[in-house]
Amino acid sequence: MLETRSSTETQPVVIVGLYGSRDPDSPDRCLDELESLVEAAGGRVAHRAFQRAPFVCEGTGRADRPASPGTFIGRGKAETVAELARASAARQVIVDNELSPAQIRELEKVTGCQVIDRSELILDIFASRAQTREAKLQVELAQLEYTAPRLRGMWTHLERQAASGRSPGIGTRGPGEKQIEIDRRIVSKRIARLREQLERIHGRKQREVSGRSERQFCVGLVGYTNAGKSTLMNALTSAGTYVEDQLFATLDTKTRRWELSPGTDVALSDTVGFVSDLPPQLVASFRSTLEETLSADLLLHVIDASHPQALEQVEAVEDVLSELGCDPSRIVRVLNKIDRLGADGDADGGAASAGDGIAILRSNVPDGVPVSAMSGEGLPALKQVVSDRRRGNWIAVRVRAPLSDGRVQAFARAVGQIDDERWEESGWRADIRLARAHLSKLRALGPDVVIEDRSH
Ligand code: GTP
Repeated sequence: MLETRSSTETQPVVIVGLYGSRDPDSPDRCLDELESLVEAAGGRVAHRAFQRAPFVCEGTGRADRPASPGTFIGRGKAETVAELARASAARQVIVDNELSPAQIRELEKVTGCQVIDRSELILDIFASRAQTREAKLQVELAQLEYTAPRLRGMWTHLERQAASGRSPGIGTRGPGEKQIEIDRRIVSKRIARLREQLERIHGRKQREVSGRSERQFCVGLVGYTNAGKSTLMNALTSAGTYVEDQLFATLDTKTRRWELSPGTDVALSDTVGFVSDLPPQLVASFRSTLEETLSADLLLHVIDASHPQALEQVEAVEDVLSELGCDPSRIVRVLNKIDRLGADGDADGGAASAGDGIAILRSNVPDGVPVSAMSGEGLPALKQVVSDRRRGNWIAVRVRAPLSDGRVQAFARAVGQIDDERWEESGWRADIRLARAHLSKLRALGPDVVIEDRSH
């Protein structure tokens, strides 16, 4: 999609987004992410621009309705973008929202550039990264599903390009209704065929997975894109998995042997990275990859603890996991990249708000196992946590704590399984199961916390 992909030099592009009126950080945060996506697609951002919509937007703050119906962003902003593109000789404008074909056409008219929306950009990155047959089929399906309802708009678009002499080839014929109808039929036939092929691959994989789970304990790595899953996989297994400072370096599930202790192996699988606001076509297409991950006995949720939006990323990942029916007690959170945090917990050289972000992360992810996949720090403790879980080494305890101390309840809920709980005059009493490693942390929460063993 980005013309840069086939050329050796990166072409300048202008990025622009429309965001809600409430969250002051959303434009910077979202444009940073979009810039990373552009780089992952082989482009270089020459200029960035944004506009605030006159309405409030939920979620990430990206607007899902236009400021101006014709051009999506306001017409004045579109003209500014046109000037920025001229000044930097950019021929492409990437918009951080989802646009209709008509809006894309109109914006192309005003800016004189090719316009690509967020979904198209992500689909393009996935297409360029897909390596196995399954990933390639999934991406093709997602692209066709995205394209199918837009066929009419696309044809008009190509006709216009042909008239301006920009795009020779298939679109130059000026198709009529008949051509659109033929294409629709071809596309839906291809979609049906791809679904069938994927169904078959999926069925075979499920059989492999169910056979495997009887023999070996399986651990899956999940996490937001660029959190460090591949690096952690390499550090734990010394396998030469492909690692790159690019989003979505991993598109397929790769499984390696991880030796927890001499003679004790588990299977460790790496998966595709999550990103917020994935095009729905991709969420559906990659469901099978994620479902396969969910069949693991344990999931290591890798979090980039040095990222200013780490908490939002944690939520984005765990929301999808819970939509897919993942049992939260099977997730172990791993706080990665701790080598990038200063002694005070601030991200070195990070944004001014990074320190706040980390404090929020610490209080919201008290059970996170801190590691650095890069330096190896914390990896023995991570191994221990996985070994404990593998041996089913959860112990059953009865805990009593003062009612006023909500930390004990919150910690127990975050790290363990509460079998029964009561609120009595004397305080909170709960029967809990948790990893032995967490017992001392629970005890350390206060002198009034009483723990009795109920294993016998
Ligand atoms: P996707 O394939 O996009 O899902 O990415 P990923 O989660 O597999 O991330 P990957 O391992 O490719 O790492 C992304 C970037 O973070 C790379 O530049 C790594 O070198 C860097 N990185 C990973 N772990 C650490 C760490 O512990 N410390 C530091 N400083 N950098 C790290």
